[in-house]
Amino acid sequence: MMKKSFIVLFVFAILANANGFNPQMQQYINQLKTQAQKSKSNFVDFSAKRGEQIFVSEHIGKRGKNISCSSCHSTNLRQIGKNVHTGKSIKPLSPLANAKRLSRVKDVKKWLRRNFNDVYKRQGTAIEKGDVLYYINSK
Ligand code: HEC
Repeated sequence: MMKKSFIVLFVFAILANANGFNPQMQQYINQLKTQAQKSKSNFVDFSAKRGEQIFVSEHIGKRGKNISCSSCHSTNLRQIGKNVHTGKSIKPLSPLANAKRLSRVKDVKKWLRRNFNDVYKRQGTAIEKGDVLYYINSK
């Protein structure tokens, strides 16, 4: 009996980690959480659902035209996207389709900074960045 529950727990731990972040990314997520708690006292956790809204909703972007994150990355994150500004193709954003995604904090920070500016004409807040990273990681 003891042995069985141990195995169940073990399998559960692996599954729970399947959609997790690598240690550096988890550290970044934790930093965003600390910031989020400072800006919103009742903050609990990031939400992939809110992240989806951030990702698919259209806004008048930097170039004065309607644009969303999915304009370049598409709504199927396992598919190749296309940069609406340059016409170049963009490898899939989903870590399940492209193991390099959400693996380097430096890249993630750089592109969130640029891409939020493209779509929202400002930087993302800690909550927005966490939400959208949860969303991408869930796809
Ligand atoms: C104008 C086109 C465009 C728009 C709009 C856009 N992106 Fe990107 N995004 C790119 C390009 C180009 C790259 C970098 C090329 C690559 O890594 O393949 C990139 C890379 C990223 C990465 C880096 C992932 C990694 O680990 O390599 C993330 C995260 C990301 N985008 C999220 C977003 C979010 C969130 C939005 C909306 C706020 C958004 N993007 C809107 C073009 C765009």
